[in-house]
Amino acid sequence: MRIDILTILPRLLEGPFADSIMKRALDKDCVEIHIHDIREYSTDKHKKVDDYAFGGGAGMVMTIQPIADLIEKLKAEREYDEVIYLTPDGEKLEQRMCNQLSLGTNLMMLCGHYKGVDQRVRDMYITREISIGDYVLSGGELAAAVLTDAIVRLIPGVLGDETSALSDSFQDQLLAPPVYTRPAEYNGRKVPEILMGGNLKAIDEWRHEQSVRRTQERRPDLLDHPEK
Ligand code: ADE
Repeated sequence: MRIDILTILPRLLEGPFADSIMKRALDKDCVEIHIHDIREYSTDKHKKVDDYAFGGGAGMVMTIQPIADLIEKLKAEREYDEVIYLTPDGEKLEQRMCNQLSLGTNLMMLCGHYKGVDQRVRDMYITREISIGDYVLSGGELAAAVLTDAIVRLIPGVLGDETSALSDSFQDQLLAPPVYTRPAEYNGRKVPEILMGGNLKAIDEWRHEQSVRRTQERRPDLLDHPEK
């Protein structure tokens, strides 16, 4: 998979992919991540990428020219499964969307800033608008990093244990069960007996019960909408 991220703050995206699972995915060539600085494509003599909103009001709007030129260039080079705009007014990100996006070959992600991008960019190029939650970030970069991480870890070969993504919270509309490791007892707190016994069927049943209980207690909405 190839992911192209379009931003006016490329340095914000240096950290999230430099360690751990994302780094391993890049090193193993499971994914290529290309960060593009929108400002480099501005034809303005001061490399401006924003301007005042027509009609007035506080806040600047990202201009169409550098974004359009960059998107056109990338689209001429390859076909994209989705051109995603990260925005708080987008569709709220859920695991099933990540599962679907992880099957793609080429994804483009556009990070907004200020009051957002000129609506014509959205009308002309964007195939999907995604929000990572009902709160407003300073820009789309952290949202793009979250989305990229959630997608890339699902690509076969990225996680050491191929099955481990399947047991994540949300994969079957249930939260993950509690987990324990050594020591078996810490300051009088013992690991549940059943996990120490080696009866795999009983352990599976216990984990499922714990998942259901946790979901009922913390996220009953997941049980109400099994189709989500
Ligand atoms: N940009 C600013 N806030 C955002 C959010 N919650 N999700 C995605 N992109 C954003």
